[in-house]
Amino acid sequence: MEIRELPLPAAEMKPKYTDESQLGFGRIFTDRMLLVEWKAGQGWVDGRIQKYGPFSMDPAALVLHYAQEIFEGLKAYKWADGSIVLFRPEMNARRFNHSAERLCMPTIPEEDFVAGIEQLVRLEKEWIPSAEGTSLYIRPAMIAVEPVIGVKPSDHYYFYVILSPVGAYYSQGFKPTKIMVEDKYVRATPGGTGEAKTGGNYANSLKAGLEAKKKGFDQVLWLDGVERRYIEEVGAMNMFFAYGDTIVTAPLEGTILNGITRDSVLTLAKKLGLKIEERRIDVNDLFKDIRDGKITEAFGSGTAAVVTPVGLLGYRGETATVADGGVGKITQTLYDTLTGIQTGKIPDTFGWIRKV
Ligand code: PLP
Ligand code: COI
Repeated sequence: MEIRELPLPAAEMKPKYTDESQLGFGRIFTDRMLLVEWKAGQGWVDGRIQKYGPFSMDPAALVLHYAQEIFEGLKAYKWADGSIVLFRPEMNARRFNHSAERLCMPTIPEEDFVAGIEQLVRLEKEWIPSAEGTSLYIRPAMIAVEPVIGVKPSDHYYFYVILSPVGAYYSQGFKPTKIMVEDKYVRATPGGTGEAKTGGNYANSLKAGLEAKKKGFDQVLWLDGVERRYIEEVGAMNMFFAYGDTIVTAPLEGTILNGITRDSVLTLAKKLGLKIEERRIDVNDLFKDIRDGKITEAFGSGTAAVVTPVGLLGYRGETATVADGGVGKITQTLYDTLTGIQTGKIPDTFGWIRKV
C-alpha cells in the first residue's frame, strides 16, 4: 500500500510542548495524521499522510448513528541512544483485524498497518518525548463514513492514525488505584462485542465509571454479564491478582479484551518463575481472599495504564485493602521489567521491540 506524504509547510506546524513532565494523556496531537480510505469495489485507496485536522463527514455517516468504529492503542518510545521503537505493533494489527471482522469492516494487511504507522512516526519523530514515563501514544482507528440512514455495513471507511505525546494515563502516576466492582451495569455478554476494541464498549462504560467516581473510586472492575459473579476486566486494563507467587487473571473467553500488555505480563511473570493461572475468579472468593491475606497484590495492565497497582477494591458498599494498600514487589518488578524493555534499558529477549 503506497502512502503519499503531502507537503506541510513549516509555518503550518504547531509549537511543540516544552515540559515533558506536563504532557498528561491524549490532549496534545502532532502535526500530521495518516488517512487511507476503503471503498466497496476498490479496496484501500488514496493513502496519504496529511496535516492533522478535522475530517469532513456527512451528518448521516453511519459511524455517527450506529457506531461502526474500531480502534487500537500502542506506543512509540525514544531511547537514550536516539533509536525509535514500537512495542509489539504486529499484535495491534492482528487485533485490529479481529475487531474489524466482528464489526463487518474491511481488514487491512498487517504489514500495511505497521508500515503506515512507521512512516508516520518517522515523520513525527521530533514529537516523541523521552523523559521517564513518557512515550508517543499511537491511535489507529477506522470509521464508517457512508451517508445512509439504514443499519448496514458501510461501503466507505476512513482508516486513520493520530499521535499524541503522553505521560501517565492515571494522573496520580504509579500509585495504587481504587477500583469498584460493578454490580449494577454490565460491559459485555457472551456473543457480544466485549473482545472487540470498538467505541460502543466504552460509551457503554461511562455511566458506571461516573457513578464509581462519585463514590471515590478511580475505575470500574466488570463482572461477567450472565451471572454477575466472575471478575472480567477494568475499563482500560486487564486485571491480575497475586496469591504469593501465583498470578491469577481472567481467561480469554470472548468478553474481555485480549490485552497485549496482558500477554506480555504473563510471559514476563513465567520468566520470573511465577506460576500463572488463567481462570474464573468468583468475586465473593476474591474479597474473602483479600481479607484473609491470601491475595498479596493486585494490579492492572494496559498500553495506556502500563502496569497499575490496585490498593483497594469496593463491592456492594464494602471495601477491602489489598495487603498494606501499597505497591507490591511483583507489581513493581513487572512494571520495571516491562518499561525497561520498552525503553531499551533491559535487553529484549522476546522479539517485542521493532525499531522504526
Ligand atoms: N481492556 C480494555 C477494555 C482496554 O481498553 C485495554 C486497553 O487497550 C486493555 C484491556 C489493555 O489492552 P492492551 O494491553 O492491549 O493495551
Ligand atoms: C490503551 O490502553 O491503549 C487503550 O486503548 C485504553 C484507552 C481507553 C486509553
